[in-house]
Amino acid sequence: MDSTASAPISFDYPQQNAAGATFTAQAWAKTPPPLVAIEKAQVIARIKELLIAKDAALVAHYYVDGDIQDLAVETGGFVSDSLEMARFGKNHSAKNLIVAGVRFMGESAKIVSPEKRVFMPDLDATCSLDLGCDATDFAAFRALHPDRVVVVYANTSAAVKAQADWMVTSSCALAIVQQLKLKGKKILWAPDRHLGRYIQEQTGADMLLWNGACIVHDEFKAVELEMLIAAHPGAMVLVHPESPKGVVDLADVVGSTSAMIKAVVEGSATEYIVATDKGILHRMRQLAPHKILIEAPTAGNSATCKSCAHCPWMAMNGLQGILNCLENTSGEIFIEEAIRNKALGCIDRMLDFTKNHPDLIAQAQHGFVKNIGAA
Ligand code: 13P
Ligand code: SF4
Repeated sequence: MDSTASAPISFDYPQQNAAGATFTAQAWAKTPPPLVAIEKAQVIARIKELLIAKDAALVAHYYVDGDIQDLAVETGGFVSDSLEMARFGKNHSAKNLIVAGVRFMGESAKIVSPEKRVFMPDLDATCSLDLGCDATDFAAFRALHPDRVVVVYANTSAAVKAQADWMVTSSCALAIVQQLKLKGKKILWAPDRHLGRYIQEQTGADMLLWNGACIVHDEFKAVELEMLIAAHPGAMVLVHPESPKGVVDLADVVGSTSAMIKAVVEGSATEYIVATDKGILHRMRQLAPHKILIEAPTAGNSATCKSCAHCPWMAMNGLQGILNCLENTSGEIFIEEAIRNKALGCIDRMLDFTKNHPDLIAQAQHGFVKNIGAA
């Protein structure tokens, strides 16, 4: 079977720009400063007014600032994983969408809803997986393997999605690859090497993997996690599948952000060790206030980790940025129509599959439980 070793593209982050600044440093530098209480209350009140006046809905990912997640819920918007964000954008009747997350999430919303205007608090909020999968390089990779079905993770640009047969998110990747395997298909997968390897292991599919990684999940450490588990023997270990194999192998539940939240809400344990972006703890605490949540360890202590379990690009989303979208129509997403049209096919295929196979998706969304399989 093909493996990561045969992928022609190597990947490492943080990369540097021409001036020597790393992409992650640039992102941290653009993180909005916290607002003082009075200012925050004023900005929130103004956003609430404008969301109504401008017929707009706020859609947020679980990793963004807790105030933004709360505002999305309070205003009839939505906070969710990346699959449900895409679906919500398509189905909601609002003329305008404000997407608080990272660039590929705003682009997916625009691809499926071209009639809507889609805005983001900061268009520079990207993702290391997207940055690490250049569309031209990807086209060259694909051209080498014309016999394979091209499956790309949602965390890619519109130009990469335009080259794909399927888009998947961590909520549905297992179920979709499993079905492709049953049909005898060989797969070309991009860009996350850890998620790709995990799916390959679970499904036994023949997958050729692009060599990308998420800078946040790549930093979780198996040895330190083992020590933490030993100190908390009753804790349930929840791991996002963008994490390295050694970390995934220690998990009780491996799943998307929504699967991890479900595990905390429904789990019988008192303590939960959480290996994903710490932004998710906000929603977990709200939905399961009596559970004890413990952050999984990252590379060394704070001085030596690149992300310290928080995505620098997710952190670029601020309340003031949302207000700017509504007041000044700043941060609008535009996608060339030819690219959008091509990219739509792989997203629609995923949305149709998830709609038509709720049983398979429910299994995957529940997370993969060690020694049992899809729960
Ligand atoms: P989910 O699809 O699980 O929400 O993950 C998105 C993401 O970017 C994880 O890093
Ligand atoms: Fe990308 Fe990782 Fe940030 Fe998710 S957490 S948006 S995968 S860099």
